[in-house]
Amino acid sequence: MSRSLALQQMSSGRHRQTNVVPLRPETDVVIRCEDNIEFMRSLDPESMKLIVTSPPYNMGKAYERRSSLESYIAEQAATISEAVRLLHPKGSICWQVGNYVEDGEVFPLDIILYQLFKNHELKLRNRIVWTFGHGLHCQRRFSGRHETILWFTKSDNYTFNLDPVRVPSKYPYKKHFKGPNKGQISSNPLGKNPSDVWEIPNVKANHVEKTDHPCQFPVELVERLVLALTNKGDCVLDPYLGVGSSSIAALLHRRKAYGCDISQNYTNTALSRIDMLQTGQLKTRPMNKPIYQPPVWDE
Ligand SMILES: C[S@@+](CC[C@H](N)C(=O)[O-])C[C@H]1O[C@@H](n2cnc3c(N)ncnc32)[C@H](O)[C@@H]1O
Repeated sequence: MSRSLALQQMSSGRHRQTNVVPLRPETDVVIRCEDNIEFMRSLDPESMKLIVTSPPYNMGKAYERRSSLESYIAEQAATISEAVRLLHPKGSICWQVGNYVEDGEVFPLDIILYQLFKNHELKLRNRIVWTFGHGLHCQRRFSGRHETILWFTKSDNYTFNLDPVRVPSKYPYKKHFKGPNKGQISSNPLGKNPSDVWEIPNVKANHVEKTDHPCQFPVELVERLVLALTNKGDCVLDPYLGVGSSSIAALLHRRKAYGCDISQNYTNTALSRIDMLQTGQLKTRPMNKPIYQPPVWDE
């Protein structure tokens, strides 16, 4: 199927995700129930093309122990330092975070953590805004409906594949109105750059990917990063793996998946999701599926 046909199908809603992924478990997947510093120390330097993760936000969720902001930052610094050691020279780190909130005051974690990456001379390529429709309804500030992904590279010579992540153009039949190409279609037939603002539903109760983890990644969010920032056969690591959403995104696109989580419960769920992926039983929300718009009722 040509890519333009695939894009047309995506936009018309006929695109389907089959999710039957033949795996060689002994070489394609390494998942451990372990503290991430221990796990990362066991891996080879410069072996990971993409390190993508969502760390705890120090908000006292079921999976975290709330500590002072200073000790939280020190823990993050240690994990980031080990991640940089593992990062391939052409590789990327994507750190997805929201806010830490104390006594009603909001501390944006991307601003706080940015310097930890700069201490290793990484270069920021995008600060991606991930926006979604559902969350807490705040009473004394505007309800938060976005988080961010800091995308850093180790060098200026980094992998970036735009074509696999293009999205349908708004005006695909727009033409050049002057110059030597006058009358010819001006937009790229493969679609447009998805920009640095991504509207992707977060995983709440009705989401097809929902497990018992309170804060899982939507797989499609990580798929876009995997496709753009790695090639087939590359290694993708998530040091705060949760229920394995980033591993699923990697395996769906024939990359190798590495990850760890301190919770046995979550790593068990991650492994059983990967088993389901092999047999075609795992449902994921397809990339670029249009956001559901409720019907408009007349009064
Ligand atoms: C925000 S969640 C990540 C969820 C994940 N993105 C997913 O899609 O399931 C953070 C995870 O980090 C894990 N965690 C916290 N401290 C850890 C540590 N020191 N080493 C490994 N995992 C840790 C928690 O158990 C939790 O599952």
